[in-house]
Amino acid sequence: MKVIVCKDYDDMSKKASELVISNMIEKPQIKFGFATGSSPIGLYKNLIAAQKEGEISFKYAKSVNLDEYVGIDKANEQSYSYFMDENLFDHVNINKENTHLPYAPENDEKYAIEYRKILDDFGQRDIQILGLGPNGHIAFNEPADKLNRRASIIKLTDSTIEANSRFFENEDEVPKYALSMGVEEVFDAKTLIVLASGKSKHEAVKRLLNDDTISTELPCSLLNLHPNVYLFVDEEAYNG
Ligand code: GLP
Repeated sequence: MKVIVCKDYDDMSKKASELVISNMIEKPQIKFGFATGSSPIGLYKNLIAAQKEGEISFKYAKSVNLDEYVGIDKANEQSYSYFMDENLFDHVNINKENTHLPYAPENDEKYAIEYRKILDDFGQRDIQILGLGPNGHIAFNEPADKLNRRASIIKLTDSTIEANSRFFENEDEVPKYALSMGVEEVFDAKTLIVLASGKSKHEAVKRLLNDDTISTELPCSLLNLHPNVYLFVDEEAYNG
C-alpha cells in the first residue's frame, strides 16, 4: 500500500485528484468505481474544475457506484444517486447512460442480484474510489465475522447509522439497510484510491496500517491484500 500523508482535507483532495487526472489523460475510456460520503467531495470538485480547464473529459468515461440506501427514492436528496448528480455528474460531460448505481426500493435480495449482473457486464474498473467508515467499513461492508463476496443487502450497524445521521434530520430517518458491493467486487479494480480525513478515521487508519492481522471485523484491513492501493490520509486521520 502506498501511503500519502497530506496536510489536510484540501491537500488530500488535491493529491488524489492529480492521480485520477493523470489516469484519465492516459485512458479517456476509463472505468470508474465511485464512492459517496464527505471524503470524495473535494476530489470530485477538483475533477469538475479540471474538466472546465479542458485538462480532462468524461466523454468516454463509465462508472459504477459502491452502494445505496435501501428504500430511498433516487430523487430523494439523501440518496446516493442524488449525491452523484449534485457532486459530479451534473457538472461534467459524462453520459448518464454510462453511469450505474445500485437501487433497492425495498428490502429484497433480488435487487442485489440485479446489481451483480450490472457489475459483471461492466467489467473491471480502472480506479475504485473508496472512503472508510469510522468503524473500518468499506462500501457498506460492516465489521462482522463473515463478509459478502458479492453485492448484497446489508443491515447497518448502530455506529454507521449514528455516523451517517449527520446527513439526515435525525437518527430515526437514517435507513437501516443498504445495498452494497461485496468485498470481492470492491477489490476487482486495478487501482484502489482510499481517502481518509479527520480524527474520526484515525482508529481505522491506525489499525489498517499497524495491525499484524487481517480481519473481517475490520473490513478495511483487507486492503492490505490488494496489490495496488493508494491511501491518501490527512494528518488528523494519520496522527489522531
Ligand atoms: C458511508 C458509505 C461509504 C463511505 C463511508 C465514509 O457510510 N457507505 O461508502 O465511504 O461511509 O463516509 P464519509 O466519507 O462521509 O466519512
